[in-house]
Amino acid sequence: MELRLDRLTKQFGSHIAVDRVSFSFTPGVYGLLGANGAGKTTLMRMICDVMRPTSGSVLFGGTPIDQLGDGYRARLGYLPQDFGYYPDFTACDFMMYLASLKGLTAQQAKVRTRELLGVVGLAEAAKRKVKTFSGGMKQRLGIAQAVLNDPSVLVLDEPTAGLDPKERVRFRNLISSLAQEKIVILSTHIVSDVEYIADEILVMRAGGIITTGTVEEITGDIRGCVWECAVAPREADAMSASLTVGNIHYAQDGSAIVRVVAQQRPHPSARAVEPTLEDVYLYLFQEQSGCLPVSQTKAEVGQDAIARRKGAHRG
Ligand SMILES: Nc1ncnc2c1ncn2[C@@H]1O[C@H](COP(=O)(O)OP(=O)(O)OP(=O)(O)O)[C@@H](O)[C@H]1O
Ligand SMILES: [Mg+2]
Repeated sequence: MELRLDRLTKQFGSHIAVDRVSFSFTPGVYGLLGANGAGKTTLMRMICDVMRPTSGSVLFGGTPIDQLGDGYRARLGYLPQDFGYYPDFTACDFMMYLASLKGLTAQQAKVRTRELLGVVGLAEAAKRKVKTFSGGMKQRLGIAQAVLNDPSVLVLDEPTAGLDPKERVRFRNLISSLAQEKIVILSTHIVSDVEYIADEILVMRAGGIITTGTVEEITGDIRGCVWECAVAPREADAMSASLTVGNIHYAQDGSAIVRVVAQQRPHPSARAVEPTLEDVYLYLFQEQSGCLPVSQTKAEVGQDAIARRKGAHRG
């Protein structure tokens, strides 16, 4: 099973929201990571055939999805970012309603609704109105409706928005349990949401996929570029102004432990540490924030390795 994006592009007026994205998805969990406005939702909407690309195509099993039509949609599950929940429906009614829209028989809908509300931990709340649900409960209901038809391709746009840490853990486990033999694509701008569950990360910026790979691969790209040093708080402020600084932790002894993403040792006391996905994110977005000269960020570490990464290319 392959879902392929071929130079997929969406332009709104003069603004290019998705810019010639090519990528091949096979079963697995993919985390689409990018800042606000990067183009994640636009890309997902085209994958889900609710928005027509300006150019390029989405192919499922080698056939363009606009030729597959309902046959494709029957194999697709989608949780939109701005999902409408029908507040006066109960969870059960809501699932039954969507099941009928998806073409399940009444009997299938009943069985599937009971089963899925159980899977997402909403069995007890099945008869409660959706307007009484917490954000996390709504998100779980959204995931349940997306998998009603046992889709081969599951697209979840910001499924963890508004979840507390416990719900996030629950969500990750839920996705892992549902993901078998499916292509699961989920978007977020929260690094930790995809760090543990995604087999592959796709980082989007300004409409393009700028890097892809496993967490190990893409963190490996910036090995030697992440540092920690203990400095005086005043020095920490100065470093924040001129360097790409991640966490600053103020220790009991009054010093500040500063994490820095930089090509060169940022301070005589700095020691190199293992990069995390969050560091990669800071690294990839530092050019935009102007923290480092472009020429420096384009140096041999990082970008060249990233450019060599399989799969995603512009053009
Ligand atoms: N219908 C539209 N008409 C005009 N511009 C749009 C439309 N939809 C999206 N855009 C623009 O396209 C760009 C990408 O938007 P998109 O919603 O895909 O980003 P995103 O990565 O999902 O952001 P977020 O993290 O905020 O959800 C933005 O600049 C946005 O303003
Ligand atoms: Mg979005």
